[in-house]
Amino acid sequence: MMKRFALVMTLCLSSSAYADDVAEVWKAKCKSCHGDDGKAQTKMGQKESIADMSLAAWQAAESDADIRQAIAEGSPKNSKMKAFKDKLTPAQIDALVGYIRTLKAK
Ligand code: HEC
Repeated sequence: MMKRFALVMTLCLSSSAYADDVAEVWKAKCKSCHGDDGKAQTKMGQKESIADMSLAAWQAAESDADIRQAIAEGSPKNSKMKAFKDKLTPAQIDALVGYIRTLKAK
């Protein structure tokens, strides 16, 4: 019984550490342009007409592979969206794809 409890606790702790980590990466490296909520209501967002990631239509149009590609390689349409493959690990990029999915408006 105690063993099972300990296991559940470990799982909870490690998954919240993971969530904190990706949220930190977002804040440090993405938020300045894309905003806290992915709506891109920032100076850069307005200037460059960055898409609102919370929109269901945006979420539906972008596959996980599209999002991963944009983060890793940057955008071919706008050089302000830089390639992050040298700055982030593949695991961090995957976590960001998951994080972007959570930005979809409920
Ligand atoms: C200096 C500003 C800036 C920063 C910082 C930035 N982006 Fe972007 N991002 C952009 C712009 C501008 C676009 C629009 C590109 C376009 O229209 O193709 C964009 C587009 C995107 C897209 C969508 C690409 C598409 O196909 O429509 C994704 C996904 C994305 N960014 C993720 C991220 C993530 C994750 C980070 C942090 C690791 C990040 N961005 C940091 C400026 C930025």
